Amino acid sequence: MFLTFEGIDGSGKSSQARMLADHLRGLGRDVVLTREPGGSAGAEEIRRLVLEGDPDRWSAETELLLFTAARRDHMERTIEPALAAGKVVICDRFADSTRMYQGMSRGNLRPLVDQLHKLMIGREPDLTVLIDMDPEIGLSRAKGRQGTEERFEDFGLELQQKMRSGFLALADEFSDRFRVIDGNRDMDSVARDVTDVVLQSL
Ligand code: TYD
Repeated sequence: MFLTFEGIDGSGKSSQARMLADHLRGLGRDVVLTREPGGSAGAEEIRRLVLEGDPDRWSAETELLLFTAARRDHMERTIEPALAAGKVVICDRFADSTRMYQGMSRGNLRPLVDQLHKLMIGREPDLTVLIDMDPEIGLSRAKGRQGTEERFEDFGLELQQKMRSGFLALADEFSDRFRVIDGNRDMDSVARDVTDVVLQSL
């Protein structure tokens, strides 16, 4: 089973992905917890290129190629082998993030994103958990981390608002595989809901 977490920056999805992995391991499942951009040696190198530096370091088109290259490597080396071995793969962000961040942030590149996905990736998750979060709270949490990977946070609140409504629209578009969970609550309540929706689908 291939599970992905999506949401705006600071939505708490990475913590939820970790908690779900622990929970499923406790139930005896073999789980691979991974993330994008990254999740394989080559993709982690590309991660630094896309997440560090000035917001205008790359055009949206160049960025799309870099994220797709990272994803292709991640698929070949981490995700596909794990799924073939019968493991549960939990991935923190996947192609839906590209549909949003590269597809919507600087003009409408969604048709290009979809074409490239079809050509080079061609796989959707079995289940996608969207942690829905107030963009102001999300952004202040994300900025509070004081890291170096702030290129997207530096696009500001307006982008986060656009991403939030975009993700909700995407959840309607792919309603068969998306489950939306209210992230504006304490972590344990959110985690309980995540576990419920995942166990229903396993
Ligand atoms: P992530 O490490 O999940 O950061 P956070 O925990 O703050 O959400 O993601 C880093 C950034 O990468 C995030 O701002 C969204 C961006 N991103 C894209 O723009 N396109 C993509 O395809 C992916 C996977 C991520």
